[in-house]
Amino acid sequence: MAELIVTGGRRLEGSVRIPRSKNSVLPILAAALLCEGESRICDVPCLSDVDTSLALLNAVGACACREGTDVLVCAGDQMQPSVPDSLSGAMRSSVYYIVPLLYRCGEAHISFPGGCRIGARPINLHIEGLRAMGAEIETHPNTIICRAPKGLHGANFCLSFPSVGATETLMMAAAFAKGRTVLCGCAKEPEITDLARFLRRCGARIQGAGGTCMTIDGVERLKAVAHTPIPDRITAATVLFGVAACGGDVTLTGVRYSHLNAVLHTLSAMGAELCRPELGVLRIRMEKRPDAAFVTTGVYPEFPTDAGPLFAAAALQATGESMIRETIFENRFACAAEFCRLGAEAHVQNSRLYINGVSGLKGGLLASQDLRGGAALVIAALAAQGKSRITGTEYIARGYEDIAQLFGRIGAELYWEK
Ligand code: UD1
Repeated sequence: MAELIVTGGRRLEGSVRIPRSKNSVLPILAAALLCEGESRICDVPCLSDVDTSLALLNAVGACACREGTDVLVCAGDQMQPSVPDSLSGAMRSSVYYIVPLLYRCGEAHISFPGGCRIGARPINLHIEGLRAMGAEIETHPNTIICRAPKGLHGANFCLSFPSVGATETLMMAAAFAKGRTVLCGCAKEPEITDLARFLRRCGARIQGAGGTCMTIDGVERLKAVAHTPIPDRITAATVLFGVAACGGDVTLTGVRYSHLNAVLHTLSAMGAELCRPELGVLRIRMEKRPDAAFVTTGVYPEFPTDAGPLFAAAALQATGESMIRETIFENRFACAAEFCRLGAEAHVQNSRLYINGVSGLKGGLLASQDLRGGAALVIAALAAQGKSRITGTEYIARGYEDIAQLFGRIGAELYWEK
């Protein structure tokens, strides 16, 4: 994989369009397998997790391809229930295929999903919920086999933690299970609401998505539709914290402000000037070093865990001591040790990342170890003086179409080197 060469110290200026949300696209690609006919998912970014999803869909006998910027997905006549290990191990989102394969084949065989090593990431809630709906599930050390010879039935199920993935899995399952499902303790992230919007347009009967409790009445069949996913709030946060770190004046287009409330609140606390010149447009100006801030991540609508490392990268430049407390994943801050290579003062203790802001960070050699931590290294390098080289960019490619182009468009100096 190519390395990123970043020359830092430039102010960011200009305008950038925010792409569609990775975390919406991935479950929707899987859910398209529940539909009769060809689904069209519009304006899908070119991410490696999307490529892995298309490979997975084709490997199980579906037909999935790109047509311009859209992706077309259609279930095949000869679907097969096993996901190749190389594909399920390549991304966390392979877990979304359990339910569609159960629907298409009556069973699903999948090795435990891979993904960024930001925590243990068990799938017990997916399994417990599916069992409550009548699935028979065998778990082996590396694989799970899920069967529903008589189909799934509706159930009352309460998630003990509002997991995004488990809520999505159970929403898909309930969409075609016999009878009514009531899910409580659901995650409320905008991507959940987007999946529900997609499924409802396909004919699913889902009420309450975006709230703690959902009621879903199973239907016999869903029909394919065209769907445009919501904008990517984490890519927007990446640009916003990039500007907070480097200073500048940048206009983001194609954003949903309401999805960014906690992030915008933090940016204001750091001294960024924010305005909304028109619908879907957000302008950020940062004309000084950021003020220090304290942040706690949480489930939506709290500050997103995915934006934690991005905030931290901006806080490296702050005047004073900042702190971020992570509450979702145990190993979110692998990037902290890399920040220190630039001369930053940052250390992790008990899921808290403490940062003493300093001016005059110097470029260095940085190794990205996960997706958002990798993007945080890009921000840190953009704000540091001199040249940095970032390795491990395959993690970054999972969630950013081309991060060099994203920041290059607003005046940053960075390029890929093979
Ligand atoms: C999704 C997002 C990811 C984001 C995360 C939290 C996608 C593709 N990924 O991941 O970017 O960081 O939400 O907003 O949408 N958990 C269990 N048992 C389970 C499932 C989860 O204990 O069965 C725990 C996890 O270990 C974690 C917490 O619940 O500590 C949150 O995980 P979850 O919300 O499921 O995250 P993902 O869906 O994996």
